[in-house]
Amino acid sequence: MAAASSPLPCCLLVVAAAMMLCTLQGAGAVTRQYQFDVQTTSVTRLCSTKSVVTVNGQYPGPTLFAREGDHVEVNVVNHSPYNMSIHWHGIRQLRSGWADGPSYITQCPIQPGASYVYKFTVTGQRGTLWWHAHISWLRATVHGPIVILPPAGVGYPFPAPNEEVPVMFGEWWTNDTEAVISQALQTGGGPNISDAYTINGLPGPLYNCSAQDTFKLKVKPGKTYMLRLINAALNDELFFSIANHTLTVVDVDAVYVKPFTVETLIIAPGQTSNVLLTAKPTYPGASYYMLARPYTTTQGTFDNTTVAGVLEYEDPCPTGGRKSVPIFAPTLPQINDTNAVSNFTAKLRSLASAEYPAAVPQVVDHRFFFTVGLGTHPCAVNGTCQGPNGSRFAASINNISFVLPTTALLQSHFTGKSNGVYASNFPYYPLQPFNYTGTPPNNTNVMNGTKVLVLPYGANVELVMQDTSILGAESHPLHLHGFNFFVVGQGFGNFDAFNDPAKFNLVDPVERNTVGVPAGGWVAIRFYADNPGVWFMHCHLEVHMSWGLKMAWLVQDGSRPDQKLPPPPLDLPKC
Ligand code: C2O
Repeated sequence: MAAASSPLPCCLLVVAAAMMLCTLQGAGAVTRQYQFDVQTTSVTRLCSTKSVVTVNGQYPGPTLFAREGDHVEVNVVNHSPYNMSIHWHGIRQLRSGWADGPSYITQCPIQPGASYVYKFTVTGQRGTLWWHAHISWLRATVHGPIVILPPAGVGYPFPAPNEEVPVMFGEWWTNDTEAVISQALQTGGGPNISDAYTINGLPGPLYNCSAQDTFKLKVKPGKTYMLRLINAALNDELFFSIANHTLTVVDVDAVYVKPFTVETLIIAPGQTSNVLLTAKPTYPGASYYMLARPYTTTQGTFDNTTVAGVLEYEDPCPTGGRKSVPIFAPTLPQINDTNAVSNFTAKLRSLASAEYPAAVPQVVDHRFFFTVGLGTHPCAVNGTCQGPNGSRFAASINNISFVLPTTALLQSHFTGKSNGVYASNFPYYPLQPFNYTGTPPNNTNVMNGTKVLVLPYGANVELVMQDTSILGAESHPLHLHGFNFFVVGQGFGNFDAFNDPAKFNLVDPVERNTVGVPAGGWVAIRFYADNPGVWFMHCHLEVHMSWGLKMAWLVQDGSRPDQKLPPPPLDLPKC
């Protein structure tokens, strides 16, 4: 492959980021205003053009920059024919739950022609997060990075990189993704798989007619680059590696970690990570593929293709007649290499320094045990369904497949009108225990429900999430809105409530907003419920979310005025 020539979108991204960094100089918290025009836009990938929903005509969408402590206001105007809402994934939204974004949880969607101004403050977070549509599968193309810089004058707890580059993984369908999921929900079968993975919207040279659509990262010898990784794919966890280079992980989900260096990392949908890449000290006369492809243990079909970007070194003598350089490719783990995943996640530790302490709840007020996994709904009498054994696919938490209401939960809660909208009896543990990771029960049917779990303000919560082997053990990246949590323990097989807690890490566990429940295993998290509101928790694999692998926590107001959820903004969309 030839060394690069023309300027590419990646370079534009770098330039845009650098310019924004300059304009973000200046002291004190400020208000940053953004205009998001949701619209349909023609995009061509894999030699095929389709109309997709975008923000401001950009795919992927624009980067939102802020400093820790800033106030952000985003005016979202919906010019598209779809209902829309936008979630600021990972933003704590302390007492600003009305701006969180999941449709029918914290707001009714913004209808075509309508608008809504999301207002929130970035508190106690710095790193990379992202924003995405939070309704149906529209996040396939409606997503973009959130770059949170430390406050002016505050540095990183690691050597400052020379440049920072968002690297956003995505998933591309040649067909309309809204049609893909609606067809799947009609037939009860699995949705069609994607046609490509992308890096910053580009599939790269391993796909048909996509060599021109390749993400290229141009580096100079000896310099350090901070890649702001985001997995915005719909349904796939990804392994990522750059040939002949290592990556030093310094941050996940906008929380610093103790730095560690790897050749390959794993990133699940919803997760973000800042990693340092140090270029070789001298011009190597070679280019290097950066590859991403899935990790999965699914029994169903999945997109097993590979996205490639290219790491290119600036040639010190470009006129020297050097026409092309060799290109090296990294070796990625096997698709189903669960050990590679757990080896990586075991390395994640909070920085837990004086400046960035790990505020792990040491005592627990409420303990919960949730099973997460797949299941079935029976097919309609005389119907034909394409799910397992003629049934319909479902997914559940504690055997409840969550059904979205037709009005927003937060509004119903705030106005005291929950009757007929939701019930407050989400089970604390499975009502019918079984050998979760053993031979699955004969009856795999799940129940439907719109149930929340109520927590008093200030509760210290411990939650164990247990994967089940029903229709195959699979990793489920569970995302909690409104909080970060600490991952205090994880393991394979069934959680042992007697012996496992003794092994919990209560000193420097990683703090994040999305964690993979290991395939055929469990994970234990702790969080402090200091944010009043209704907070969605769900698998960030969109297909599992569509099948019902979701629930909501309702955190009550505290007694002090600053522990209460303020009333909704006047422009909150109506259903
Ligand atoms: Cu990034 Cu509720 O999701």
